[in-house]
Amino acid sequence: MELTGKRIALGITGGIAAYKSAELVRLLIKQGASVQVAMTEAATHFITPTTFQALSGNRVFIDQWDTNVANSMAHINFSREADVLLVAPASANFLAKVANGIADDLLTTLTLARDCPLLVAPAMNRQMWSNPATQRNIATLLGDEVIVLGPASGEQACGEIGDGRMIEPEEILEELIAHFQPKLLKDKKVLITAGPTFEAIDPVRGVTNLSSGKMGFAIARAAHEAGAQVTLVCGPVSQPTPRGVKRIDVTSALEMHAEVMQRAATQDVFIGVAAVADYRPRIVSGQKTKKDGSPPPVVELVQNPDILAEVAALPEPPLCVGFAAETQNLAEYAEKKRRAKKIPLIVGNLIQDGFGGEENTLILFDDNGQQPLAPAPKLELARQLIARIATLLENPYAPH
Ligand code: PMT
Repeated sequence: MELTGKRIALGITGGIAAYKSAELVRLLIKQGASVQVAMTEAATHFITPTTFQALSGNRVFIDQWDTNVANSMAHINFSREADVLLVAPASANFLAKVANGIADDLLTTLTLARDCPLLVAPAMNRQMWSNPATQRNIATLLGDEVIVLGPASGEQACGEIGDGRMIEPEEILEELIAHFQPKLLKDKKVLITAGPTFEAIDPVRGVTNLSSGKMGFAIARAAHEAGAQVTLVCGPVSQPTPRGVKRIDVTSALEMHAEVMQRAATQDVFIGVAAVADYRPRIVSGQKTKKDGSPPPVVELVQNPDILAEVAALPEPPLCVGFAAETQNLAEYAEKKRRAKKIPLIVGNLIQDGFGGEENTLILFDDNGQQPLAPAPKLELARQLIARIATLLENPYAPH
């Protein structure tokens, strides 16, 4: 559970996306958070307070003149007791009021009275979103360190298409979890490779491997959570892109090499998680190879460039981290790769059940020897790896 012990104050304003906030409350509770809901009067026209009371297990606040609240101080108590105030959906009207310090109902009053971070997930018609007044208000809010989540683009309730949709509850959850992670790589640039590469033999066949991309995508997410600007160059995988991560899809090792090399020199960290094919067919047939009774074809292979070794050999390389997946002799092979590629840190994983699992067991090898990380979900391990990388950026010889 990612939000155990966290107290979330959830504000809901009037908009059709308010129905999605019911799912959001369910997701937050499932991750161990406690949720206290405040709704604007307009929000109650879209979804009833009873729904949120049932899902959160807490009374829902709407009226600032509610005499049932101790000392009539709901607006003060609300934020004093919360780790974060999240308003989803946040209407154009609500954002305008908050940007200008207006407090004329319970939700705007407790927003002004808060002493915790404010995250807002805007939801409105595309014209309202692009209106200069809304854009001015958003700029003001960003300047006031309000965290603005989205909006997304797509089909709107009114039938129009454009920017202004509230991002999905799962995405809001991901942003909230990220918000609570320590910002160990704030403003650092991190480049990551992930997944397999596919080396074509002909238009329908090729050489590849079973990397799912999960480990690399988890590291991209963890780096973003830690405040880094993350670019993820990935081979053919079907993983969802972590929020805030710039994704570049490639197919072959040569394409991955080109995308990495044009960016590597400006990065602070490079992490090679991809299972890059060491070889590719020398000749790629333009047509599908046919069975015509002659002996089976022989595919001649040529070596692919070693992306990680080339990045590490740049005149001023980023901090380079490699991965080694082995079926035996992990320590020996991983250390050998670390020395051959001249990189400070390599992450070894034993491949017992093939690629693609949800969990992994990692051992970090660096100048200080080895540091085993207990078996855990890939995101958890990714966060531990990011913590180690942050330490090495500060002090390349820091002990484990
Ligand atoms: O994607 P998943 O299913 O979650 O699985 C994750 C993983 C097992 C693929 C991952 O954790 C992993 O171990 N990746 C590296 C696999 C490997 O053993 O690669 P390698 O020995 O071929 O290469 C060693 C290092 O050099 C790696 O960092 C690799 O990205 C890099 N390399 C290798 C060859 C090449 N031509 N260019 C490279 O950059």
